[in-house]
Amino acid sequence: MVAPLIVALDVDSAQRAVDLAAELEPHVAGFKVGLGLLARVGPGLIERVAAAGKPVFVDVKLHDIPVQVQRAATEYGRHGARWITAHASGGAAMLGAAVEGLASTSPDGGVLAVTVLTSLDDAAIEAVGIEPPVGDLVASMAAVADRTGCEGAVCSTHEISMVRAVAPRLISVVPGIRPQPSDDDQARTATPDEATMAGADYLVVGRPITGAADPAAAAAAIAR
Ligand code: C5P
Repeated sequence: MVAPLIVALDVDSAQRAVDLAAELEPHVAGFKVGLGLLARVGPGLIERVAAAGKPVFVDVKLHDIPVQVQRAATEYGRHGARWITAHASGGAAMLGAAVEGLASTSPDGGVLAVTVLTSLDDAAIEAVGIEPPVGDLVASMAAVADRTGCEGAVCSTHEISMVRAVAPRLISVVPGIRPQPSDDDQARTATPDEATMAGADYLVVGRPITGAADPAAAAAAIAR
């Protein structure tokens, strides 16, 4: 068995997301809705996906001044978000504001701090003036996420042990999962087994499931 799956419903319509959620529900632990589809159909999507009966991870990757982030987190909680994401690089006050906002409307909700996007590698962070390696940056960010009351960190498989070392309380939510090698936009990838062995609490999987000819069969195969 691999760690529980959260399926990223990065599809083109609310109806497709709702249909996929109903089809995949027996195989997965939760669903993630992201920026593309939320921008297209609005936050009412969260309630519609939640109707499938699994927690909804609202991956909005908030990053603004604390007051704005608090307001946004409050509203996503009102829509039923079980988890929301905020960029750890927004700093401690911003993460704390996200935690406070979400808690005000979603008592069981938790903030997941996005550390370094799995689409970035050492060269990409160096190009924007941040000193590599990615792992050191993830560790500092996890420490901030921990002391601001976040529930977890979003990181790649390669940094799970670093998150655990600095912040054992945080859950690790891990995207960049590729059952087979691929050459898409993800840079720091791993197989479901590798991520599970590394200690991931949840695997976030999108295209390997949503792009499969039979998404339910693909989810069941990964889950096994
Ligand atoms: O299709 P794929 O499996 O690459 O989907 C991964 C999902 O995880 C996407 O919805 C993406 O937005 C999200 N994600 C990520 N890397 C992060 C945080 C979230 O790929 N660091």
